[in-house]
Amino acid sequence: MLNAGPLRQYPEDIGAIPEETSRVSEPRPVAVIVLAAGEGTRMKSQIPKVLHPLCGRSMLGHALAAATELSPERMVVVAGHGREQVSDEVRRLAPHATVVVQERLGGTGHAVRMVTEAIGVLRGVVVVTYGDMPLLRAETLAALVREHALAGNVVTVLTAKVGDPSGYGRIIRGADGVLTEIVEHADATEEQRAITEINSGCYAFDGALLSDAIKRVATSNAQGQEYLTDVIAILRGDGYPVGAVIAADADEIQGVNDRVQLAQVRAVLNGRLLEHWMRSGVTIMDPATTWIDADVTLGQDATILPATHLEGRTSVGARARIGPGCVLTDTVVGDDAVVTYSVSRSAEIGPGASAGPYAYLRPGTRIGPGAHIGTYVELKNAVVGEGSKVPHLTYVGDADIGVHSNIGAGTIFANYDGVAKHHTTVGDGVFIGSDTVLVAPLQVGDGAYTAAGSAITEDVPPGTLAVARGRQHNSEGWTERRRPGTRSAEAAARARQAAETAEAAETAEAAAGPLEAAAQDDTGSAATDEEA
Ligand code: UD1
Ligand code: CA
Repeated sequence: MLNAGPLRQYPEDIGAIPEETSRVSEPRPVAVIVLAAGEGTRMKSQIPKVLHPLCGRSMLGHALAAATELSPERMVVVAGHGREQVSDEVRRLAPHATVVVQERLGGTGHAVRMVTEAIGVLRGVVVVTYGDMPLLRAETLAALVREHALAGNVVTVLTAKVGDPSGYGRIIRGADGVLTEIVEHADATEEQRAITEINSGCYAFDGALLSDAIKRVATSNAQGQEYLTDVIAILRGDGYPVGAVIAADADEIQGVNDRVQLAQVRAVLNGRLLEHWMRSGVTIMDPATTWIDADVTLGQDATILPATHLEGRTSVGARARIGPGCVLTDTVVGDDAVVTYSVSRSAEIGPGASAGPYAYLRPGTRIGPGAHIGTYVELKNAVVGEGSKVPHLTYVGDADIGVHSNIGAGTIFANYDGVAKHHTTVGDGVFIGSDTVLVAPLQVGDGAYTAAGSAITEDVPPGTLAVARGRQHNSEGWTERRRPGTRSAEAAARARQAAETAEAAETAEAAAGPLEAAAQDDTGSAATDEEA
């Protein structure tokens, strides 16, 4: 299959396919050219159109990802509008790609001519695609290349049948159904405008013939531009076989010209990603409110609850439960972990750990296996050891917490002295009392305790209880004396009278006979218990 058609026409290219890259049975293109010079005026944006993001990548990123799957010998991006930013993105995503600058937007033909002038004749299959068609699948491009080779064409156009063809180039076929030319909407007759088969803008070319034909493209058309589409009629006129393949899914060739289309395309792409994960064994409770970026990975039997966004390179382990209401960016979630109504960026949540509701995990946070981060807890650059708990209302910044420690409600790791950030180390089996301030730099040893309400400024040795707060003084009768006439004073008076009445009754009873003393309650807990 691999060598059937291609061998006749592209023997040198077939020979060039390294075994390991020929995953699919089509010739490896010598180049993929991504056209991305357009201005995108209708986006009304400071950002070049192809750099607008969707599903975790720029539009250009999606185009480069699809192109990469063809394993071309080289990738070329034509940049014009916003060329510096576009070049930066290309360098970041595809360092080996070449950026060719198109100084003026002379049309798609002009763009390709700039490429052939800049890098010379490309011998082999050259694929041309756009930077603003993020729904185009790599498989569709691969099928185009395969069909191109099998048919022995010198150019094969990817087409689509659409409900509303206005604006697109129309595919003109002869009586025998064979492609003869592409006519742009602006140049088309009424009869041609009725044709619903349109040009996607993606093509497979014979590179050498493209280099030659592109020089012969004229500008005698309604837009005064060099149309890449004219190459079809030129090569056909030269007697070469040209062809067209119809995309199975017309959605794929939807371009993005404004933010309405950007939203539509984003929804389609997201829907595809969700479907992929559901078919791979992930439960997604509410696809309508779930957004999963292209580079996210999800384990088997993971459950994603409503209103959840999984962004960047987030990975979620098997059986983990995420949501509702989570935004996880570049976060690694272990197997069986549970994350509820939480936000996390560049963090790790260990296997069996839990976070939320309402936890905020900032970069550098690592939650150990089985650890628990509770409600209104913020962590930054913080490591929480296996089985440790930070259950309520706490800030942990620049800290290491050992295993099986408990951080009481309302604890603050005071890491910033107004000038510099400092580190706190809390050992294993430590019990930090509620409302403790741990003033960094600080070390709290294994098995140490801190009393509730302490401001700890000095290291606490292992096994030590640290108390750092004023002793309590009770000023009896203060409210009635100093706040007379208030509700508080009235309540205090009622309590005093009730106590006096009870005392009088007790004295009377004691006089009548002996009585056992009431059992005293012991309430010595320094910290709130976890999830009491
Ligand atoms: C083009 C096709 C049309 C096809 C349509 C599909 C031509 C002459 N027409 O039309 O048949 O149906 O795409 O969307 O090719 N670009 C450059 N440099 C330029 C001009 C364009 O890089 O000088 C890039 C744009 O950034 C864009 C792509 O080429 O990514 C298409 O350009 P656009 O102006 O949208 O082409 P259309 O007129 O829509
Ligand atoms: Ca267009």
